[in-house]
Amino acid sequence: MRKPILAGNWKMYKNTQEAKALVEGLASRVGKLSDREVVVCPPFTSLAIAAESMKGSNLKLGAQNMYWEDKGAFTGEIAPGMLRDTGCTYVIIGHSERRQYFGETDATVNKKMKKAFLSGLLPIVCIGETLAERESSETFTVLERQIREGASGLSAEEARKLVVAYEPVWAIGTGKTATPQQAEEAHKFIRQKLAEIYAPAVAEEIRILYGGSVKPENSKELMGQADIDGALVGGASLEPESFSKIVTFDL
Ligand code: PGA
Repeated sequence: MRKPILAGNWKMYKNTQEAKALVEGLASRVGKLSDREVVVCPPFTSLAIAAESMKGSNLKLGAQNMYWEDKGAFTGEIAPGMLRDTGCTYVIIGHSERRQYFGETDATVNKKMKKAFLSGLLPIVCIGETLAERESSETFTVLERQIREGASGLSAEEARKLVVAYEPVWAIGTGKTATPQQAEEAHKFIRQKLAEIYAPAVAEEIRILYGGSVKPENSKELMGQADIDGALVGGASLEPESFSKIVTFDL
């Protein structure tokens, strides 16, 4: 049984006081759940206060990015050890906005993913096709490349703990959600590829999250699909009310 993960990607929103209020609002609503993991991923500047505010709850902390070196002259970057030190369990790697605006590639995603494991962080590796790629029937080719180049090279022990987020780029922040059938088709394909790279038993344990305009109104149906093991939520994770409803999709 794969334990569902509901993760909130706050992107570049929430200063420290707003982060405190949001985490407290979540802790009081969904902070005691233990049959699913509830993860919040604030901007770097709000990680510490989020960690403090979630103490005593089951909420978990994640970062939105990291660099693959431990330390050094890398102005503006954040090391994995710094994230661990601040209380992070998870780190999002290769979000499509990082790929689109900050030049991340499958090769950098792979370096970061491996380094995250070595540093004791669990990576949430994002993949997904653009609208142009979907319209030219390249979805599966793109997904296969992103998985083979971005998410390979782990030991079986590490791979079991990998989290993949399928986020069709055309569904992010657009209000256009993939239908549950479209999402399930992609998730099933991703699991098949993971089975080829690692082993079927390993792939069965890997959690694959859906992301892209997840809202309280569509979360139940999406989460009900066989190969969808949770969600990576942007916009709807910025308010305690809406994110809590997504977290409790089946309750
Ligand atoms: P969205 O973002 O829920 O606002 O579409 C999802 C994401 O980018 O992770």
